[in-house]
Amino acid sequence: MCGIVAYVGPKEAYPVILKGLKRLEYRGYDSSGVALLNSGLKVFKKKGKVAELEDSLVGKDVHAHIGIGHTRWATHGEPSDRNAHPHQSENGKLAMIHNGIIENYSQLKNELIKKGYHFISDTDTEVLLKFIEDIQQNNNCTLEEAVRIALKRVVGAYVIVLIDQDNPDTLIAARKGSPLVIGIGKGEHFLASDASPIIEYTKEVVYVNDYELAIIRPDELILKNLGNEKITPYVTKLDMELAAIEKGGYDHFMLKEIFEQPDTIFDCLRGRLDAANASITMAGVQNNIDQIKNASRIIIIACGTSWHAGLLAEYIFEELCRIPVEVEYASEFRYRNPVVRPGDVIIAVSQSGETADTLVAIEKAKEQGALIFGVVNVVGSSIARISNAGAYTHAGPEIGVASTKAFTAQLVVLTLIALKVAHAKGSIDTQRFVHLLNELHDIPEKVKATLQTADAVKKLAEKNKDAKDFLYLGRGYNFPIALEGALKLKEISYIHAEGYPAAEMKHGPIALVDETLPVVFVATKDSYHEKIVSNIQEIKARKGKVIAIVTEGDDTITAMADDVIAVPEADEIMAPILSVIPLQLLAYYIGIAKDLDVDKPRNLAKSVTVE
Ligand code: G6P
Repeated sequence: MCGIVAYVGPKEAYPVILKGLKRLEYRGYDSSGVALLNSGLKVFKKKGKVAELEDSLVGKDVHAHIGIGHTRWATHGEPSDRNAHPHQSENGKLAMIHNGIIENYSQLKNELIKKGYHFISDTDTEVLLKFIEDIQQNNNCTLEEAVRIALKRVVGAYVIVLIDQDNPDTLIAARKGSPLVIGIGKGEHFLASDASPIIEYTKEVVYVNDYELAIIRPDELILKNLGNEKITPYVTKLDMELAAIEKGGYDHFMLKEIFEQPDTIFDCLRGRLDAANASITMAGVQNNIDQIKNASRIIIIACGTSWHAGLLAEYIFEELCRIPVEVEYASEFRYRNPVVRPGDVIIAVSQSGETADTLVAIEKAKEQGALIFGVVNVVGSSIARISNAGAYTHAGPEIGVASTKAFTAQLVVLTLIALKVAHAKGSIDTQRFVHLLNELHDIPEKVKATLQTADAVKKLAEKNKDAKDFLYLGRGYNFPIALEGALKLKEISYIHAEGYPAAEMKHGPIALVDETLPVVFVATKDSYHEKIVSNIQEIKARKGKVIAIVTEGDDTITAMADDVIAVPEADEIMAPILSVIPLQLLAYYIGIAKDLDVDKPRNLAKSVTVE
């Protein structure tokens, strides 16, 4: 949700910032801008994607060794040149970029209007900047001091970065609630919302914490808290390669990430699963095994696709561990005064590790004494850092806005955790435990085989691309996959799609069924197979078009359905990792058939750092 980049040092700042903005475009792409300091402050802003900003700057003087850049996902005010960041102070000397929301901005704005300030944009960011400017002028203090005073009055979440015409070698940055990484180069510093704009210049980074303020010059990084006390920056080494954030020959990141899944799942299992010796190594689980296996309840908190992974985990944990599980939308959980007891274990699932609702929901549960276990993809992210324990999903950077490889990695990690806990608890017999470990071991190869359905799915996409609605149905372990399939289609193709439990369909959605409605059944072989066969018949009896995801060799459904995509046989607990893949491909190919930007679907953002 908004990407920020800044640079100070001997390099030309603009190319560094521009490249960084392109890498961060997944966070928001409705407008972008840069501010550069070189004998005066120059601010350039443009509605639309970063490429449009780039085109508009061809031939302009963008020479500078310090600058800030921003790619926006609108919160306050429509996407426009005027509302794009950076914003400027009333006296034109300061420029600021911001990621987050200032909740008390209207109160601050009214105070500033009374003092004679003018507002060019509708943004909360311009209000915060002019508030800082006002404090600086009234107190006759440094910009750093003014930022500190201002942030004590601000309610909300932010990362801000400022440049000042009167101090042309200094960036000032602060964070609360939104992510900020500082890359340390030789005589230069890079700032960004995540490490992707930094990785090609340096691997030494500092993750800035909440309520910290940074004063950054080419040769100096000073970190302070809001009480003006210095903090020693904790420098970590990035464990990421540049190739991981490039398209590597694929047309789109989404397709690349779908096809990476055999490798990402393998990476996720590496060092953890030892099927030959029937053991699972996960330090985060092992170190807290008594608390987890004796939990009175597990509450899984997540948003979006991660919530779907959580829902599937509910089925798996209850089946294998016999522990009651609740799955909560973080945005609902955080506001409904939930009952959390010290014996509860919270599992927070998040690709980015920065989702604002998930972050606050787990903070709330932590205050009430629960153990927080994070299942997170981005190493060093906020959720990873505030969790008491955790397991990374190791899917590598996911750039496509719609989550694919991160989802299957979440399923694998959650399954590993459930198996480890069940084994420690004795709620699974050895034979089944060993069988499931072997099944997991075989999953990367089966995912590879499933990807061979791509051409068939592409044809299916061509055939159905003009449908106005889709219905996705599944039962048991495949119900969350029906929800995920529908979500992928909505995100990527803008076709309305609904996911539903297959049996529940007759209590409402069946009224939608006619010969124009494609109904996607996620119907791999499981304990409910006969039941879903009956549900397919109910749809066929009403002339619905049935597309079925089945297990190879399923002649019964193949004879009934209009179209079938077959995936390799797998235990019903693992089958969803396979059955989701054709659904990811279907959404992708329909998006392509409709000539849409599949990597950056309209209105969405990958990392939702506003509530
Ligand atoms: C956004 C993304 C989704 C993601 C959701 C939760 O909506 O577009 O792909 O599932 O946020 O994000 P998280 O990073 O917490 O998994």
